[in-house]
Amino acid sequence: MNRDEELRYKAYQEIEQHKDLVESDPYRQHFHVMPPVGLLNDPNGFIQWQCTYHLFFQWLPFDTTHGAKFWGHYSSTDLVNWSLEPIALAPSSWYDKNGCYSGSAINHDGQLKLFYTGNVKDEHNNRETYQCLATSEDGIEFSKQGVVIELPEGYTAHFRDPKVWEHESCWYMVIGAQTTEEKGCVVLFQSHDLENWECKGQIAGPTYGENLGYMWECPDMFVLGDKDVFLFSPQGLEADGILYNNTHQSGYMVGEMDYHHARFNGSSFVEIDRGFDFYAPQTTLDDHGRRIMFGWMSVPGEQEAYHPTINYNWIHCMTVPRELQLYNDKVYQTPVEELKQLREEPTTIANIQLSDQQYVWPSQVDWSSEVEINLNHSEEMTSFELELFDCIILSYNQNSREFSLYRNSLITEEKEFRSCHLPSGLQNMRMFIDASSIEVFVNNGEEVFSARMFPSQTNQDMVIKSEGTVNVDITTWTLKK
Ligand code: FRU
Repeated sequence: MNRDEELRYKAYQEIEQHKDLVESDPYRQHFHVMPPVGLLNDPNGFIQWQCTYHLFFQWLPFDTTHGAKFWGHYSSTDLVNWSLEPIALAPSSWYDKNGCYSGSAINHDGQLKLFYTGNVKDEHNNRETYQCLATSEDGIEFSKQGVVIELPEGYTAHFRDPKVWEHESCWYMVIGAQTTEEKGCVVLFQSHDLENWECKGQIAGPTYGENLGYMWECPDMFVLGDKDVFLFSPQGLEADGILYNNTHQSGYMVGEMDYHHARFNGSSFVEIDRGFDFYAPQTTLDDHGRRIMFGWMSVPGEQEAYHPTINYNWIHCMTVPRELQLYNDKVYQTPVEELKQLREEPTTIANIQLSDQQYVWPSQVDWSSEVEINLNHSEEMTSFELELFDCIILSYNQNSREFSLYRNSLITEEKEFRSCHLPSGLQNMRMFIDASSIEVFVNNGEEVFSARMFPSQTNQDMVIKSEGTVNVDITTWTLKK
């Protein structure tokens, strides 16, 4: 066996060996993409190719920590039912031996092409980085074409995560980078043939006075509405009140990509998800013209070691796929329409009058559920609160217009929270609840909170309450498992 075959063989053995244990975890999700075993992080190479959606993922099969990543691969025709495909990339070559790191996919000449970062470390932990290409004729088997870009001057080896797209018959690539002065930035490359790439320099970052941390990971650039959106994950932002409270952030700038001057002229940075667990998102444009995003439903850091699922030899999952739209220069997120296929019979109770007292939802909320709540409030409501299971509280304060999600900390079990501001108040919430996660879409996707949660297995209650008067409509659906 060569190195590639050996690594693949070991990874498949790992799946086989731990299958039963992994599947026996009560916190195993029902409708989220998860690793078959081991650790999953970033979504990679997300594309709809020849009518099928392909979602690759950073994967370490052998452990629930980070290491030399593979590209795992799921495919789907409906964004709901996913099949595990053979391993796309294994870290078997000299230029990716310490990880086939994140990257993207494109369709070209009938081939599916993957651009990814080859991560290499020597015995002293010195890092090297290579941007690599792999191609496939059938979307299943990939053959590595080797290195297409080496590290240019002016950047440290934290230079990775190529995202490639086509614009006016030319190929462009953005790479997340760190300058030699250890500032985060993004670098643009241009190519006519996908093999020879010309470095056009920084399109956003310290050169333009944008000082946002020490490293930008996983850049993405796309058209949304009549603007360009630059999405990325900066590391090293200081917490600032209710902003930037996770170890690392993901967010966007809205503006215009000036291809002529290789410059992105954008707004200031806005966090794209307000919860605890969201990082390294990636988007694609599908055949319906939808811009769809997956995020990794975690953030790198200390709390990863406290996920109870590691006792079952797996960790992490993706968010649900979300369609992005731009309203007033703000990115709105909606769970893709196809997720409605999961709905079973609805239970609706309309016109629940809350007035300084609590209301207990009359049935148990399933571990796999969607809940929709509309508030028709009078001027008198000053606060609204929803308590779910024994671990989540959603709370809204009408005076400050602040909306918060509280959960039991994974580390201390004390409550911790994340908040955002809702300038036009709280109108509705749509929640996707899975065995160990919640995603709350507020005001038709104006804001989203994603969080992993590990509730006790006994409490399936939902309770709402208000201060002042409010009239509420609630619908719940159990989602197919
Ligand atoms: C983001 C990231 C990427 C890198 C990958 C490695 O979570 O650190 O920058 O390519 O994960 O798994």
